[in-house]
Amino acid sequence: MNIKQSGFLVFLLALASISTNAQVKSVGKVTSVNIHNQQVDIVTDNAFATISVYSANVIRVRIDKQQLAADFSYAVIQTPQQTKAAITQNAQEVDIVTDSLHARITKIPFLVTFYTPDGKVINQDETGFTTSWVNESVTTYKKMQDGERFIGLGEKTGNLDRKGNGYTNWNTDSFGYATNADPIYSTIPFYIGIHHGINYGIFMDNTYQSDFNFGASNNRFSSFGARGGEMNYYFIYHTHIADIITSYTALTGRMKMPPLWSLGYQQNRYSYYPETEVFRIAGTLREKKIPADGITLDIHYMDHYKVFTWDKNRFADPKAMNNKLKDMGFKLTVIVDPGVKVEKGYGTYERGLTQNIFAKYPDSTNYSGEVWPGLCHFPDFTNPKARAWWGTEMKKYGDDGISGIWNDMNEIATWGQKMPDNIIFDYDGKKASNLQTHNVYALQMARASYDGAKAAMGKRPFILTRAGYAGLQRYSAIWTGDNRSEDSHMLLGVRLLNSLGLSGVAFTGMDIGGFTGNATPSLFAKWIQIGAFNPYFRNHTAVNTKSAEPWTFGEEVLEISRNYINLRYKLLPYLYSTFYEATQNGHPVMRSLAIDYTFDQNIYNEQFQNQYLFGSAFLVMPFEGDAKFGKVYFPQGKWYDLYSGAVQTGGEEKIIQLSSNKLPVYVKQSSIIPMQSLVQSTSQKPTDTLVVNVYQGEIPNKYVYYEDDGESYAYENGSFYKRTISYDPAKKAITFDKVEGSAASKFNNIKLVLHGFGATNKGDWNDDFASYLTPISKFDPQGNANAAEGEKVKSMVIKNSSAQFTINY
Ligand code: NOJ
Repeated sequence: MNIKQSGFLVFLLALASISTNAQVKSVGKVTSVNIHNQQVDIVTDNAFATISVYSANVIRVRIDKQQLAADFSYAVIQTPQQTKAAITQNAQEVDIVTDSLHARITKIPFLVTFYTPDGKVINQDETGFTTSWVNESVTTYKKMQDGERFIGLGEKTGNLDRKGNGYTNWNTDSFGYATNADPIYSTIPFYIGIHHGINYGIFMDNTYQSDFNFGASNNRFSSFGARGGEMNYYFIYHTHIADIITSYTALTGRMKMPPLWSLGYQQNRYSYYPETEVFRIAGTLREKKIPADGITLDIHYMDHYKVFTWDKNRFADPKAMNNKLKDMGFKLTVIVDPGVKVEKGYGTYERGLTQNIFAKYPDSTNYSGEVWPGLCHFPDFTNPKARAWWGTEMKKYGDDGISGIWNDMNEIATWGQKMPDNIIFDYDGKKASNLQTHNVYALQMARASYDGAKAAMGKRPFILTRAGYAGLQRYSAIWTGDNRSEDSHMLLGVRLLNSLGLSGVAFTGMDIGGFTGNATPSLFAKWIQIGAFNPYFRNHTAVNTKSAEPWTFGEEVLEISRNYINLRYKLLPYLYSTFYEATQNGHPVMRSLAIDYTFDQNIYNEQFQNQYLFGSAFLVMPFEGDAKFGKVYFPQGKWYDLYSGAVQTGGEEKIIQLSSNKLPVYVKQSSIIPMQSLVQSTSQKPTDTLVVNVYQGEIPNKYVYYEDDGESYAYENGSFYKRTISYDPAKKAITFDKVEGSAASKFNNIKLVLHGFGATNKGDWNDDFASYLTPISKFDPQGNANAAEGEKVKSMVIKNSSAQFTINY
């Protein structure tokens, strides 16, 4: 190539880069700055930006190509908190300083950097790319920090650490999804970044299809963006991830107390019908002494899949059936789908037409799509009128005595999976196309179901949803849809629930046993053990699979199932208190180890990433059903084998023997675990003794114990029973604080059980055996030994009193 030729090539390359750059529009440099009390308005070459202080730990960044539109969000319910913030500028920068966080906006070009109060970089825009647009897609690029990890982002497949991967948010019906499928059902555009002993959260509140890149094939940046709308993100900084989750759930809301029954075991399949079959299932659960609280009806209860109807041949008198089920201690949940069958004379459809609440094409005709009932119209749940109409339709379910609503197919799923972009939704008066609405449709359906069911049932309803958006925890629990009866799915399910927990959703579950296919007995046995340590505990399977109730896998699996479901019921006081915690600070029930052991590199290791804490006390180690040995990792501290009481020091890896009878579970040192006697359902009263287990440890612990009536909203007006129980190893004291709240406890006595304390010299302690926690199996040789021997502990029964009292040991 001669000089002339190479010169021409350079010219061509330059041209190419100019034309490529022309497609990409960057924010550019700052041209004007307007400082208000807690907010800065900025104009740049190509954009308008507002950076506002939400609280000392939360700063919001909004950027758009045009003047920012009026603020609106389906996810965020918090308004900016009055916060002390110093905002200053000079020729180069604008600085926003709160007590906990410092944001600096560089002017040429516009770049945002977040610092800790002592000046360490937490997060900074990537200098070359900053925030930019390609057509209507907007993306913010962040410099990839050395060793940076990324966790969260809701219901996403893959590893705990998402580094090296990219993800898309577009709620998708994913029947039998692969373990690396993306996207699946729901969208939570919130993640946590970790590097150099620092962690932060970013929540991008944009409902369009969104994309997250955590260094997929690149080391230069991580990025988040959406295919329309403005860049709108909340930056959250705390030194502990638990506090980041608390701030995130302050923004997007927290769950209400669930009905107690919904924490019990739920039996389901696609579908139980007719009524005699429902009673056969209910009767068998009772006869085989498998504690259970819920039975769920799938789509075959309806008349030709028409929502809010009953197939009268299968269920002649739903109300009488429900009354009888209630007498047996069962609550009924029914499925609802958004598709309303287009059929003249069908009341729900006719009333929907009259009230004009269906989603529409731009020419004002109702959008039709095909689902189970055939051609359907779809309520526009972003229209307040449609939400109210849905609530009114739900009244009959209240009259029929239904206690739970299961929202399915709300991505929206239609046959062929392609809803047109040009459907127009109300978007609470703002009108928006399917492109903007799709990801929040399910959230608004869950909202309509929650509000409607609450009014119709007059009690706390149980609401379950398949799809959702950030903030879904305010209305509903979520399950992970149509998984497969495979080991890899059981373990993926654990990670999905852990990731949802990191993303503000505490009430989560998966189809125990797997939805598609048939579980082997060993897989089912392991899955039900893990399920006992999931927030929502439901067995479910698809329409054409073998029966999958616990008794259908043989006597051994039946006994294993019973053991673990029994344990679950005995743990209800612990679990209920853990849910209470979720209502107060958003902490999940199922806790990725990344929450408490963020900077321990081992917990991200693929071998150990499925381990999690159930509440604050139990370390659960899931393995494949047939695994004979497993490698586990104990984070720092001291751990007790749940079954034998054997002590294990933390910071160690270990190969342990596995058995089909037992799930490896360890108890964290200093844990306080309240339990009750075994009941067959939550409608049965336990004995009046609360068993409070305390595990010896080196660290002090404070535990909030919580009770209320388990079904009404009276707790919102102070009708609850709450007290802090503290364990102080230095003072050798266990203190029950004064009771708060106006309700009485279910328990007149407290049996205090000390584990691992050895000799005690004060008080009236008895030798005891800790059979409370041990699911003993006659099929397990070690189990037999436990049955005979048990873990030796010290115990003492005391009269419960609402005043403060201290027990010394
Ligand atoms: C899809 C749901 O994911 C599944 O759980 C349900 O059984 C079927 N729809 C039928 O309603």
